[in-house]
Amino acid sequence: MEYDLIIVTGASSGLGEAFAQALAVRTSRMVLVARRKQRLEELAETLSKRQAGLQVMCVPCDLADATQRKQLVEFLREMPLGRTLLVNDAGLGDYGEFCSADEEKSRRLLEVNMMAPVQLTQALLPRMLAGGGDIVNIASLAADVFLPDFALYAASKSFLASFSEGLNIELRGKGIRVLAVCPGPVHTEFGRVAQRGGYDRGDMPLKKWFYTPIETVVSGSLHALEAGKARYYPSTKVFLSSCILRHTPLWVLRAVLRMRPRRVHPTDSSSSAS
Ligand SMILES: NC(=O)c1ccc[n+]([C@@H]2O[C@H](COP(=O)([O-])OP(=O)(O)OC[C@H]3O[C@@H](n4cnc5c(N)ncnc54)[C@H](OP(=O)(O)O)[C@@H]3O)[C@@H](O)[C@H]2O)c1
Repeated sequence: MEYDLIIVTGASSGLGEAFAQALAVRTSRMVLVARRKQRLEELAETLSKRQAGLQVMCVPCDLADATQRKQLVEFLREMPLGRTLLVNDAGLGDYGEFCSADEEKSRRLLEVNMMAPVQLTQALLPRMLAGGGDIVNIASLAADVFLPDFALYAASKSFLASFSEGLNIELRGKGIRVLAVCPGPVHTEFGRVAQRGGYDRGDMPLKKWFYTPIETVVSGSLHALEAGKARYYPSTKVFLSSCILRHTPLWVLRAVLRMRPRRVHPTDSSSSAS
């Protein structure tokens, strides 16, 4: 599918950068959004060198900041859209018990994971309805389950997946497809950003076996979008995990999650008090 404009949030690293790399061939205009301007500019240079005629606009924006989000929306409102693809990829996690979470990090998580995709979608949708296009929301396998020590993140991704599914139905037959991508673990900067000092998640069973290559997530997501799917679980392992999660009685899930392996660093007094 070709687009007149592709917008990717979270394009400075990980999945967002990989989406931007893969999608550049499908358009002549891209908008890359994240806080790290230099990373965006390096990516823009690589993409423009690789593809003659590609115009890449880098928009440094802190999506946790309402004023900066508004400026981004105003920038996009000034822009001719045509057939547009919006990839809401930017997101962050916060490993650790909620009782010891940093208030500001919790707020930022909710703003980036929930408010930013909603606001961007709302700002673009009226004109996308005229020109056509697609929306890809990067949720998570965590959308399918409540997760202790990752409670806010899992809740924010449930929100995003649910929002996507509702929109997908509303927009059916109106020329706009909406896809929620629900990856399991992927090697990116995500884990480092989500980590808190003093908190150790412990060794999650089957963790290494569970990782999906970044390229699989991106190429699979784009195929799923073409196929008109509403939700995509990259890899059979992740898909089966989702099936198991959704068909397991809640009391069993609660019992299993209570037994999660975790180690709290002895110097983290706020966590060890709990
Ligand atoms: N990696 C995984 O295991 C995994 C699994 C399931 C779902 N996901 C989801 O995949 C998406 C991409 O994550 P990733 O794994 O690629 O992690 P990543 O490498 O840490 O990338 C996160 C991206 O989000 C951007 N971002 C974070 N906070 C932002 C803010 N306040 N304003 C603007 N941009 C912000 C970052 O850019 P700046 O830092 O430059 O602002 C970065 O480009 C996220 O939504 C994540 O929840 C990841």
